[in-house]
Amino acid sequence: MDIIHNATLVTLDTDDDYGIIADAVLVIKGQHIEWVGTRQDCPFLKHDTDSAVKTHDAQGALITPALIDCHTHIVHGGDRAIEFEMRLNGAGYEELARAGGGINSTVRATRAASLEALIDSALVRLDHLIAEGVSVVEVKSGYGLDTETECQMLRAARALESKRDIKIRTTFLGAHALPDEYRDRPDAYIDSVVIPALEKAHTEGLVDAVDGFCEGIAFTPAQIERVFKKAKDLGLPVKLHAEQLSHLGGTKLAATYQAMSVDHLEYADANDAKAMAEAGSVAVILPGAYYTLRETQQPPIEAFRKYRVPMAVSTDCNPGSSPMTSLLLAMNMSATMFRMTPEEILRGVTHHAAKALGLTDRGRLAKGYVADLAFWQIQHPAELSYRIGFNPLIRRVVGGKL
Ligand code: NIG
Ligand code: FE
Repeated sequence: MDIIHNATLVTLDTDDDYGIIADAVLVIKGQHIEWVGTRQDCPFLKHDTDSAVKTHDAQGALITPALIDCHTHIVHGGDRAIEFEMRLNGAGYEELARAGGGINSTVRATRAASLEALIDSALVRLDHLIAEGVSVVEVKSGYGLDTETECQMLRAARALESKRDIKIRTTFLGAHALPDEYRDRPDAYIDSVVIPALEKAHTEGLVDAVDGFCEGIAFTPAQIERVFKKAKDLGLPVKLHAEQLSHLGGTKLAATYQAMSVDHLEYADANDAKAMAEAGSVAVILPGAYYTLRETQQPPIEAFRKYRVPMAVSTDCNPGSSPMTSLLLAMNMSATMFRMTPEEILRGVTHHAAKALGLTDRGRLAKGYVADLAFWQIQHPAELSYRIGFNPLIRRVVGGKL
């Protein structure tokens, strides 16, 4: 048993406040939190002479649940810095995609990369997230767009767990873009690649969830629905990139399939929010893509509040629309650009991010939850969203390992 004392805890253990406990003690047994409360109420401290009990002085640190990045494309080949420059010289994101650049240029680089190269380049990005107290990262496929490379990306994602103290959740995103070899044949691509690749990846145990990109430059709701039907047959939960650049109705479709999350959502409306609330879907807010693409349409935060749709915040780390490896920066952007409150945002990178991944045992400091903790050198949790480009992490604990 481990006893952490001399800390301020931000438990997030109810839905409507930070749950701050000053002069607090947190007790860990194995991988889980055993007890949380004030020093005064702690029944365990008197046993601290027992050799099976170790006490740790947190030296006044503020402790939150470790952060969770619930939407990333962290495994991929190459980068798109040249396209970034082209966009600044006037080219549009959708225009580049239609001209064979965009996602397809990353597909070429990913197909050309070895498994080791995919792992090594992802580790560089992953280490930035880890340095900010992240303990769980979702990783999507979607830059292979053929069966072998989609599976390879997911193998690389799974391998990250053996290289670092991190929990990885994998998401199959075969319906991310139409590869060059299927140009103008999206239905054939769904039938001949996406569905067989999903079956194979699932058989290999590589898939925790299924995602798609429902957009003018990607797939229609009807095409996405065929992928969702397959996911349902395989017993896999779904999520969706929807209403990012236009309103195509992907959110309503995702809600019909009880999606764990719907992500981006700039062009979503109040009816979409209502449908998500009824389905129990999390709204994943991705300020990095909004910022990088110089979007001006804001996600309907007020509607999500009104219908009590849980909101998560994530980096969307990817080489095109969000080359971002800082969840703390995504938190700051969500506050300043979308007027989310620091409390909503902290819940969005912990408890609601866990919910977006179907994890019910993370993102809160409470008995029975996995002891994934972040220790910060700050006085108040709002500081995590307030500062720009500043990382106050002192220590990260994953699965109770101190
Ligand atoms: O989440 N929206 C679709 N997919 C990614 C970006 C893909 C890319 O540009 O490489 C996203 O923003
Ligand atoms: Fe994405």
